[in-house]
Amino acid sequence: MKEFYDLADFSVEEIDALIALANRLQRKPDPQALAGKVLSLLFLSPSLRTLASFQAAMVRLGGGAFVISPDMSIHGIETRPGIVMDGMAAEHIREAVPVIASYGDAMGIRAFAERRSLDDDLADREYNALRDLVSTPLINMESAIGHPCQSLADWKTLDELGVPRQGGRFVLSWAYHPRALPLAVPAATVQMAAMRGMDVTVLRPEGFEMPASIMDRAAQAAAAAGGSVRETDDRNEALDGAHVIYAKSWSSTRHYGDKVADGDLRRDFDDWCVDDPWFDTAAPDCRFMHCLPVRRGVVVADRVLDGPRSVVIQEAQNRMYAQMAVLHEMLGNGGL
Ligand code: CP
Repeated sequence: MKEFYDLADFSVEEIDALIALANRLQRKPDPQALAGKVLSLLFLSPSLRTLASFQAAMVRLGGGAFVISPDMSIHGIETRPGIVMDGMAAEHIREAVPVIASYGDAMGIRAFAERRSLDDDLADREYNALRDLVSTPLINMESAIGHPCQSLADWKTLDELGVPRQGGRFVLSWAYHPRALPLAVPAATVQMAAMRGMDVTVLRPEGFEMPASIMDRAAQAAAAAGGSVRETDDRNEALDGAHVIYAKSWSSTRHYGDKVADGDLRRDFDDWCVDDPWFDTAAPDCRFMHCLPVRRGVVVADRVLDGPRSVVIQEAQNRMYAQMAVLHEMLGNGGL
């Protein structure tokens, strides 16, 4: 495997093979598999799970990892192309990225959406500019529009829970958040559930529609796998019979990049906090999923997050096993 950029770059059979490998590594560790291998990790955006789970995954496979982020005592990094560097930044990303890459056998990059232009973010322009600077195998640790590591872990979690693929009802619900958040997790999650052949509903208020290109791509994946994808603002209809409620907040797509207009719109929807009544007409064993971090009492009520429906810790733990499988394929003797 030369790159792990998007779950859609892999077939369902290839993803199932990665999950089988993740499960095997979870049951039976392979502590010498990546002996002597180094993973370089560039975090241009904050993290807890991704930062920790990639380092833990490398150690568990016998290799090592190092982290570079602007929060460390590194030279100030300039990211703007064509800039005259007469300010505080002493190093440009165009040199920093290939240097960091050259110290490792593979590299992971996290760069959240800039949220200035929806077209730029849908095209993943910033990540792709960084990708052009790297010649080693590369892992997308969350870009403007993708988070394949989260999706692979969520795929594993859904399998473990026995949530049906065909016939399974998956609701991705927008939730209130005081800030406009990226589209990466919602876009990746719709695609993941669609690829599994589930009946996927995107539940969101008016003004927070998922971009058409994301929905169209997911609809094609769902059709190929025997599922469906739709979008609604009708909570009662969406949640009826749901097997999974996956909560996530995202930016208004109507006012993308406009903080004031986005803030004015979202203020009306602060009742979009997942709580027990959301499960009244759902399937009896309906699960609550979220990628974390999550704001308690804002995105989800404590009693849901702390209750038996919540699988958020399992999702987070599966990040490590899913990434072990990716690293094993990328740096070991993988066939993908
Ligand atoms: N879910 C996720 O990517 O978590 P972090 O932002 O903490 O890495």
